[in-house]
Amino acid sequence: MSQRMSNAPLIGKPVERIDGRLKVTGGARYAAEFKHEGVAHGVLVMSTIANGRIKGIDAQAAQAQPGVLAVISHLNAPRLRFPERRVGMDPRLVDDHIAPVVGRSLPVLQEDTIYFNSQPVAVVVAETLEQAEYAATLVKVTYEERKPVTSLEAEMARAFPPQEGLGKDPQTGRQPDRAADVVRGDPQALSKAEVVVDETYTIPIEHHNPMELLSTIAEWTGNNLTVHDKTQWVPNVQEHLAIVFGLPEEDVHVISPFVGGAFGSSLRPWSHPTVAAMAARMVKRPVKLVVTRKQMFSSHGHRPYTVQRVALGATRDGRLTAIVHEGYAQTSLYEENTENLVNATRMLYASPNCITKYRLVRGNVQTPLYMRGPGECSGVFALDSAMDELAYKLKIDPLEFRIRNHAVTDPSSGLPWSSKSLLECYKLGAEKFGWSRRTMEPRSMRDGQYLIGWGMSTGTYPTWRAPSSARTRIFSDGTAVVQSSASDMGPGTWTTMKIIGAEALALDLGQVRSELGDSTLPKAAVHGGSMTTASVGSAVHEASLAARAKLFALATNDSRSPLRGATEDQLAVANGRIFLKSDSARGETYSDILRRNRLDSIEATVDSKPGDEYAKFSMYAFAAHFVEMRVDSELGVLRVGRATQITGAVVGGLGMALAEETVMDHRMGRIVNASLAEYHVPVNADIPMVEAFFVEERDDKVNPLGVKGIGEVGYVGVAAAAANAVFHATGRRIRQLPITLDKLL
Ligand code: MOS
Repeated sequence: MSQRMSNAPLIGKPVERIDGRLKVTGGARYAAEFKHEGVAHGVLVMSTIANGRIKGIDAQAAQAQPGVLAVISHLNAPRLRFPERRVGMDPRLVDDHIAPVVGRSLPVLQEDTIYFNSQPVAVVVAETLEQAEYAATLVKVTYEERKPVTSLEAEMARAFPPQEGLGKDPQTGRQPDRAADVVRGDPQALSKAEVVVDETYTIPIEHHNPMELLSTIAEWTGNNLTVHDKTQWVPNVQEHLAIVFGLPEEDVHVISPFVGGAFGSSLRPWSHPTVAAMAARMVKRPVKLVVTRKQMFSSHGHRPYTVQRVALGATRDGRLTAIVHEGYAQTSLYEENTENLVNATRMLYASPNCITKYRLVRGNVQTPLYMRGPGECSGVFALDSAMDELAYKLKIDPLEFRIRNHAVTDPSSGLPWSSKSLLECYKLGAEKFGWSRRTMEPRSMRDGQYLIGWGMSTGTYPTWRAPSSARTRIFSDGTAVVQSSASDMGPGTWTTMKIIGAEALALDLGQVRSELGDSTLPKAAVHGGSMTTASVGSAVHEASLAARAKLFALATNDSRSPLRGATEDQLAVANGRIFLKSDSARGETYSDILRRNRLDSIEATVDSKPGDEYAKFSMYAFAAHFVEMRVDSELGVLRVGRATQITGAVVGGLGMALAEETVMDHRMGRIVNASLAEYHVPVNADIPMVEAFFVEERDDKVNPLGVKGIGEVGYVGVAAAAANAVFHATGRRIRQLPITLDKLL
């Protein structure tokens, strides 16, 4: 029995977010806002070269400043143990928290090697932030400089297959993983195709630029370390610090209740928590370290620079016969970062023949990291731009072309989809957008001086679920709490977990609290990959059912209970009360049961993990994007007319399409626009009407809740839809993101 009998269902109903009021009233505290008695302030000193070696550090002047407690560099820092292993957060590999990053995380302040520009070389700790900031300007670092290499194109000849690509996809155990070369069908299919497009697409480095800066406050009590840290994965920061400082995990307490946006930037612990903890140990004071906005451009990873060749072949009547996708992505000198750059290409459209290849190219850059729909976002920009190009060559409506090549089963594995409503998405989106009024010819639609372009694309993102633990405790006053160490960077996890708990316990929302973001709570999966609800939510769901089952057992085995002798399938719950399905008058409340047994509460902790569904089904979320671009016919100024898809993600996707670009000066290996003034993200005025429509879908295969993540599927494809709309408006095909007006002149 798991059905609620009379409470109205909570899941799917709009509710007020727990964090909403807290955030607008200042009640939600972020990592740097916690008060620690006697806190000192750390300020990082960054390298001014991108490649070479530190010759010397003169800290005398800095050290002599009032308030300065320490200047720490590789010359005087304690030796730490940086794990030489795969580090990070691939959701598919969570059993041992192995990552898509192969190598060794930056051994910060341990050696004299400079791998990239603006790498931390020292930290100044002082009584006040201002004292530390000033003293940091006085630290003199001399270098032995080598010529940096930051251009992917310049190093293309040295591209190599990632080490990670050797095995099978650990998720399915069947499909080759993200980095393997894959050939399906006839390798010569492209040369035999009737109609072919073959183009190259480039995406620049992009930075996440969340509002909250990377921040840590670290405090030692003896050998116990407490950190307030901005992170998307509390247990991983705990594990990392435990390894680095040689501590048992339980001696490291990580607290991260709210995250002010992250988009992937805080998926793994970067240097700052280590530096803060090291500094706190040395000065024997709590230390707060907040990375500056400028430093954010080198203190965490970024969407890697990619160059992709996509070649498509089709019959004249518009059936794909060949897909070739070769992706090159930049990584750092010391780690191999990989993402699903070419994976969606293997499964998004039906084609008997498909070749994908993925290569990395090293450069003097920080190790890249997942950003907003990571590899799929980049890969589908290329694939769905090429689909549009081919549709035009074939003179077939781009939407019709996609429908003709709809994949009924997963072409990469032959597995059935757990569920797929993509055709319905196309239909609904086209209807709402008015796609049938579109005329095919570029430059054929106008509104006064504006050329109007309508473009569309397909979006997809894997439906992940990773092992997660959760605890549910039901109290004798009839309330309950659900607990997990999960982070909430903004999607509303505090609220979602409470809803899932209340639903499973058949309680009202007001009777259930959630507690998140603390390493003393049951271990949660990484808060990324659009899988928190599927992973942590499933754990909360199962823990709540388990706690409830304990109450059933207490009641049905108790001669004093009206439910004595009943079996589980004879019982129902509603409003915190258990009763007989056949006679709802015979029952008692959770409180009745607990009080009679003199218990303050009853709890269940559950380790929840996926079963073998990944081996049996191909599980993805799908989307269709429709974008209108308005391009000034004389000035090339671009405006987004409207877009049809998930609102927040579309804003990010349009940022990728039209604005975001981290500009590298390859002579210096230095990022030249490391500020929010020059790294452009969309503002309200850039985003007109975005409408999201959802196709109702039931999926009983993916996870116990039947949920698919919607965080990232909304990004994937937006850039292609925008580029396709720009082509429709102007007749100009832009294959280098972002699409800025200079490229249209
Ligand atoms: Mo997301 S890019 O997995 O935070």
